[in-house]
Amino acid sequence: MDIKQIRQPVYPIDDRFINRWSPRAFSGEPIRDDELMTLFEAARWAPSSFNAQPWFFLYAKRDTPQWNTFFDLLIEFNQQWCKNAAVLLVAISRKNFEHNGKPNANHSFDTGSAWQSLALQTVFMGLAAHGMAGFDAEKARVSLNIPDEFHVDAMIAIGKPGDKNDLPEAMREREAPSQRKPIGEFIKEGGF
Ligand SMILES: Cc1cc2nc3c(=O)[nH]c(=O)nc-3n(C[C@H](O)[C@H](O)[C@H](O)COP(=O)(O)O)c2cc1C
Repeated sequence: MDIKQIRQPVYPIDDRFINRWSPRAFSGEPIRDDELMTLFEAARWAPSSFNAQPWFFLYAKRDTPQWNTFFDLLIEFNQQWCKNAAVLLVAISRKNFEHNGKPNANHSFDTGSAWQSLALQTVFMGLAAHGMAGFDAEKARVSLNIPDEFHVDAMIAIGKPGDKNDLPEAMREREAPSQRKPIGEFIKEGGF
């Protein structure tokens, strides 16, 4: 697929920003442990308020005893395509600073930075990542023993890109990089 035919930035940016998108077609193949650690390494260098690094990733690889526990958290729509992912992640963030125990208002903002770094790294490696809100966060807290000091942010599917023809029909039609609002709709010089 030639993404440049579909996504055309108005101002020049590195191609890798438009090459990152969220496919649902995964091949079902595993990814190596060192590849997975490289993704976490990319996340590790994200910026954060007070360099607190509030992100934490719980994960399960396919064909391991933990997989079903993670898979069962997903809504049915996401289960339909995530069954071919290689790894499922639950991204959580520490709500208070470790150095003084005070609330960190930016914990999810910073965990979002880490997730984007991880997602961009998948593109550099010929892999793909797909963020998800469609899961039961309270069930995750219980079944994965997530302490109260963490907020449950999102789930992420990671894997090798697959064939869109293997997706259910409704998803097959939507399997393409999406567009964006114009810059003018989300910036304003000066106050709101
Ligand atoms: C926090 C978050 C939650 C999302 N939840 C879901 C989801 O539950 N199921 C799904 O299929 N896609 C989900 N997506 C994918 C978005 O729909 C997708 O990122 C968006 O349409 C932009 O497309 P792109 O990532 O391909 O550029 C989610 C993405 C993010 C970042």
